[in-house]
Amino acid sequence: MQEDVDTFLDLGWIVDPQFHPMFCIQSKDRPDYSDMVRIPTKKMDKHTVIIAQSGSGKSFFLGRLIEEIMIKSKARCLILDPNGDFRKINQIDEELWRSDQVLTQKYDIKTGMGKLTLETKDEFAKKWRPVIDEFVIKTNRVPKESKDEELKIWWPTISLEFLIQSDHPRSTEMFHCHNWAKELFNQFAQLSDDTNGEDIISKVKNIFKTLQEMPNEERVKMVEKLRVGTEKKDERLKTITNDTTRTKMSTIRNAFSSVPFFDSFISLGAASLGNESIEKAKFVFESYSWETVNSYFGLIERYQSLGILAKGPNSSNNQKRLEVVDLPSINNNELRALVLNSILTEEWENAVKKWEEAMKNPRDEDRRVPTFIVLDEAHNFIPSNPRSRHESLVREQFRTIAAEGRKFGLFLILVSQRADKLDDLVLSECGNKAILRLDSHSMADKVIKALGLDFEIKSNEREKIVNFKPGRGIIAGNWASGFDILYCAARRTIEGGRNLEYKYWTKPF
Ligand SMILES: Nc1ncnc2c1ncn2[C@@H]1O[C@H](COP(=O)(O)OP(=O)(O)O)[C@@H](O)[C@H]1O
Ligand SMILES: [Mg+2]
Repeated sequence: MQEDVDTFLDLGWIVDPQFHPMFCIQSKDRPDYSDMVRIPTKKMDKHTVIIAQSGSGKSFFLGRLIEEIMIKSKARCLILDPNGDFRKINQIDEELWRSDQVLTQKYDIKTGMGKLTLETKDEFAKKWRPVIDEFVIKTNRVPKESKDEELKIWWPTISLEFLIQSDHPRSTEMFHCHNWAKELFNQFAQLSDDTNGEDIISKVKNIFKTLQEMPNEERVKMVEKLRVGTEKKDERLKTITNDTTRTKMSTIRNAFSSVPFFDSFISLGAASLGNESIEKAKFVFESYSWETVNSYFGLIERYQSLGILAKGPNSSNNQKRLEVVDLPSINNNELRALVLNSILTEEWENAVKKWEEAMKNPRDEDRRVPTFIVLDEAHNFIPSNPRSRHESLVREQFRTIAAEGRKFGLFLILVSQRADKLDDLVLSECGNKAILRLDSHSMADKVIKALGLDFEIKSNEREKIVNFKPGRGIIAGNWASGFDILYCAARRTIEGGRNLEYKYWTKPF
């Protein structure tokens, strides 16, 4: 029996309006947590949004939040990283503990920023080590580091709307084609234990081709056979799906290359069609033309040649606890959206599958943990006004997660400079809110309105938001009762992205 343990995310310190760091007297020997902003970890069961202008410390605060989630919970974080800020999150920032810093101080005396941390480097390293063991960075970049994994996507996780316009003359046929191909792809992937991507693609293509080239009466016969075989279908399904050993796979492989092809083909077809009716199968077999098949496989080949297609699905067993998706490594907007489309589909499907499993068992056996999908510069991916079909489709997926992700354990953490450029529907689902410095009063008004904080934040408080130094912010909504002003605590891991160094480009007068 697991006990209920309360843990807290330590995000910063409460700011006393009268307070100036120069006059702060702090204990020399023991860190004092009494004015720490500690958010119960349980409060992360909502979506989160962090808004502030550029350079105000959003990504730094986000880094701290992720560190705290990783060390105070068992949750998973999937960071969709558009600026490379999280590329080095596995490395500890040694600078933070430089010798002239007094550990018990919470603020950098010179800058007044809350850059210090109350624990020793060793204390943090001890907590961070297990996280590093479960860290992976998915990248398209060539020189790979040890934590790097190839960023590839599994064809069946791409929505067809992504690949063709809805007014495409063959869109309906293509739709059937994609649906059936998807099932065949997944079926092959399940049967095979040493999956080879290209091999699966050509196998599926062969099935389509064979069906296409088959004389009509043969096809009718085959469908008949399927119809007759309905009673046996379940049995076939069982033998095929239960037996995933190499032997079975090679039997099927042989079956495909030899003459008695139909039985295994039919079994596979029937299995892949799952519970769909035989009539539907007939329809599927007859509903595409050779040109459709050609253009469909042309699409696959196009992405294959871009080197972005995976050899098999990314099963939930391969999921790591801390995954960073290196978006700048994909140098093309469309491809980036495609990758997001595929990743979100895969996360969604895996989470639904786990939910279905969990529902079969009593509540106290439900061991699922949340997955946080973290997105910096979120207005570029969940815009209020999408500029392309691709953008709308990705936004739609985020909307679904925002509206229904909770029961599947999927939560969003969104960061942006522009609340007004972020989709309203998604924004309205965010219960945890933080605002760091904003440029102007009019921007502050807009953000406060967009976050639904009109009643919580009064006009004299808005003044403060405009005058915040980097690393100061307010937390509101579910995170805080009323709202709290805080000095954001330090991110203890290395920021991947960086700014220009003033000392190298400014000139003394
Ligand atoms: N709480 C803080 N204490 C000290 N330095 C900070 C703090 N927050 C941000 N910074 C520094 O300010 C710079 C800008 O922060 P960043 O998080 O990149 O801003 P944003 O994402 O809002 O553009 C970074 O170099 C970061 O190291
Ligand atoms: Mg940033």
